[in-house]
Amino acid sequence: MSLGKNTSLPMPPSSPRPKRNRTVTWMMQRKSSVLIFVLLSFFLLLPLLRTLRASVCTGSGFLSVIGICPTVFTNAWRLFYHLGGNGPWIPKIDGINYSDASLPEHCSVDQVHMLSRHAERYPTKSAGGRHLDLIERLQNSNVTLTGSLSFLEAWAYFTEPSDPAFENLTASGPYAGTHQATHTGKALRQHYDHLVSKARPTKFWSCSASRDVQTARYFGDGFFGPEWEVSGAAELVVIPEVASRGADTLTPGDTCSKYRTAPTGHDYGYGKLEQWQKVFTKPIGQRLAQDAIGMEFSHLDIYSMMEMCGFETLARGASPWCDVFTQEEWLHFEYARDLLHFYRAGPGNSYAGAMGFLWLNATQDLMSNKTSKDVYFSFVHDGDIVPVMATLQVLNERLILQELPTGHMKEDRRWRTSDVVPMGGRLIFERIACEQGIKTSSKEHFVRLFINDGLMKLPGLPSVQHFEHAVRLTDFQKFIASRGEFFGDFREVCSLPEDAADRITFLHQ
Ligand SMILES: *[C@@H]1O[C@H](CO)[C@@H](O)[C@H](O)[C@H]1NC(C)=O
Ligand SMILES: *[C@@H]1O[C@H](CO)[C@@H](O)[C@H](O)[C@H]1NC(C)=O
Ligand SMILES: *[C@@H]1O[C@H](CO)[C@@H](O)[C@H](O)[C@H]1NC(C)=O
Ligand SMILES: *[C@@H]1O[C@H](CO)[C@@H](O)[C@H](O)[C@H]1NC(C)=O
Ligand SMILES: *[C@@H]1O[C@H](CO)[C@@H](O)[C@H](O)[C@H]1NC(C)=O
Repeated sequence: MSLGKNTSLPMPPSSPRPKRNRTVTWMMQRKSSVLIFVLLSFFLLLPLLRTLRASVCTGSGFLSVIGICPTVFTNAWRLFYHLGGNGPWIPKIDGINYSDASLPEHCSVDQVHMLSRHAERYPTKSAGGRHLDLIERLQNSNVTLTGSLSFLEAWAYFTEPSDPAFENLTASGPYAGTHQATHTGKALRQHYDHLVSKARPTKFWSCSASRDVQTARYFGDGFFGPEWEVSGAAELVVIPEVASRGADTLTPGDTCSKYRTAPTGHDYGYGKLEQWQKVFTKPIGQRLAQDAIGMEFSHLDIYSMMEMCGFETLARGASPWCDVFTQEEWLHFEYARDLLHFYRAGPGNSYAGAMGFLWLNATQDLMSNKTSKDVYFSFVHDGDIVPVMATLQVLNERLILQELPTGHMKEDRRWRTSDVVPMGGRLIFERIACEQGIKTSSKEHFVRLFINDGLMKLPGLPSVQHFEHAVRLTDFQKFIASRGEFFGDFREVCSLPEDAADRITFLHQ
């Protein structure tokens, strides 16, 4: 965890004027011998480090997962960072500097707002059905399995086909969603304990999908303690994912009428995904046809096999599917998932900005309440977090025109979602109060954004001196208002009737 701690910024050491005497010469000699010793040890240890990197930083290794690999071994391959949201929770690393999240002196976090995806789960019914159909064809007696696919002779799907746990949280293995959610609750409590009211129940929110409600409940066990419901420490509010709620929702994709029906709405992403699937899976299909004689792979078959690597890992801790594909093939899969998000509810979708504005605007409004020192936790789907990214424009492409090609992979893109919306992926806004001086009791407020514990720069906002990636609350609120004007009114954009709700009303303690 690298969330802001209540520590002061490192101060430059005061440097006393050096005395030119023998002590200095002796110290210098000592320094050089220390340097030689360090250098020697480094070269002796290098082969050991290389071996270590090979064994622990290959995707599912412990160190690679907790994020040590990228700092210690910069070039290590980490498969979890290429699973396009089908993998376990990971800290954001791309473009993140983990040493800069400390708070200046006399500053403390006084409000927290989280928007989180549900924890690790089994595939949805539609993806799972696709997997089972493929497995049945592959394990048919008229198909000869060899080479990279010979493991299939003795492999069984990771949930019982006659009673599959599709859509449910995983509850076994090192990446069990149930444990991850509780663990996250515990970890956040350590950071934000001072914001939890002892006098009244703290509300928290979930959309109505069972996997989100389950996640919220497990999170609650960790954050509020397992007795939260009976003890009255907290109250979970479930917001139904029904179209009739208009803008008063956590899941705007369900209520934005035009988004659900227009070809450039929700389905836009799936069309773009399919175009790229047909390109990148072709050579893979040709290669794997030699390992499954008698089988003809469609682009969806290849995609399904790659999905199973992530999903089996979530249920069992590891998957033989992960070794079937090369690093380049994983990069292509990652890009497929990025394309889907970009055009389904991201910067490439013209409805996304107005959708993401709803939660952001409700959140900035809560930040105006200076007497409220509270936590606000909401649980949703990846398709509800990605629009918020689009509204904030944090990972937009550099050009004004928001486009990604589907005929080839854009390698130098900024839009990478594998470490933004993995299972359990979360955005956290902190409101921070800083005392302005000893004599006055007035405070100035700032805002910071964390994505999966990585401190993010908010683009297009004036920075604050000596306070990394923080912005003034007033600047943040002006910025959100300008985003709202730019993307337009939700009801208009979505073609909702005039009497439909125009904003979120339930989000308050
Ligand atoms: C990371 O943050 C520290 C502390 O603010 C700063 O000194 C350092 O230059 C930063 N490094 C990068 C690569 O931004
Ligand atoms: C899925 O989760 C629901 C709700 O927790 C539970 O009732 C059901 O038994 C689970 N199904 C499987 C197959 O685990
Ligand atoms: C193998 O068997 C399956 C199911 O019986 C059938 O759909 C498929 O066409 C067969 N493939 C070949 C190459 O005969
Ligand atoms: C500010 O927050 C406090 C504590 O959550 C709440 O009691 C109060 O009603 C809020 N004030 C406004 C104006 O919303
Ligand atoms: C945005 O928040 C303001 C209060 O800050 C409120 O008046 C307005 O109705 C909100 N709009 C939406 C769409 O949430």
